[in-house]
Amino acid sequence: MKKIKKILNMKNKSKIVCLTSYSYNITSILDKYCDIILVGDSLANVLYGMGNTHNINLNTMMQHALSVKKKIKNSLFIVDLPKGTYRNPNTALKNSKFLMKKTGCHGVKIESNNKNYNIIKKLAKAKIPVMGHIGFTPQSKHKFKIHGRDTKSKNKLIKEAKKIEESGAFSIVLECISKTAAKSITNSLRIPTIGIGSSVYCDGQILVTDDIIGLSGFKPKFVKKYSDIYKLISLAVKRYAKDVKENKFPTNKNTFQ
Ligand code: KIV
Repeated sequence: MKKIKKILNMKNKSKIVCLTSYSYNITSILDKYCDIILVGDSLANVLYGMGNTHNINLNTMMQHALSVKKKIKNSLFIVDLPKGTYRNPNTALKNSKFLMKKTGCHGVKIESNNKNYNIIKKLAKAKIPVMGHIGFTPQSKHKFKIHGRDTKSKNKLIKEAKKIEESGAFSIVLECISKTAAKSITNSLRIPTIGIGSSVYCDGQILVTDDIIGLSGFKPKFVKKYSDIYKLISLAVKRYAKDVKENKFPTNKNTFQ
């Protein structure tokens, strides 16, 4: 597929820009600047206020993907397979086909945890583009930690990344992986690595959009806040409330005669 080829060709040439989106309004902005838009299962935390990503289901992911689909023209469109929807290769295939057919997404992302190679192989064989995800993988890891700091864990990650590539994935998200491990992984793969909290030594970067615009209130070390939308919305709502209380809204301008 043309869009996947474009991403593969960007390795060592141009950095890959990725962000998450859960809705068509945000997508209409992101699509102008992003190479990849991900409907991440982070929406469980960010939109639904759940404590983790464990209970978001396929139908909810599909609804958000349908919204995003309405405004995607240029970017590669990837959707997370949520926890429990890829327990074995056949289930993964069935659910990926369902998502792709219903939403028109170009591929799926699955978390790896040193397994799931057969799942990636099965999907790749069915021509379903797969993005892997290693390091901190929120669907199975509960305690946050940086991965690949010591030699043993670094070598384990490199091996895992290579197996994911060999299984047929077109890219891999590296989440919260040390700088040296991220550099070695990126240099040992032909497919692009997309980092989140994994240093500049990745072929691309991804962050959660709500974090960079200052809406989620989540600001770990690896997030850079580019805007303070929370403050802007608060100000707008405060002004609206004041206008309503003081009978200054609606005026004739906002009223049908
Ligand atoms: O769910 C998500 O949003 C993600 C990324 C941030 C990589 O997996």
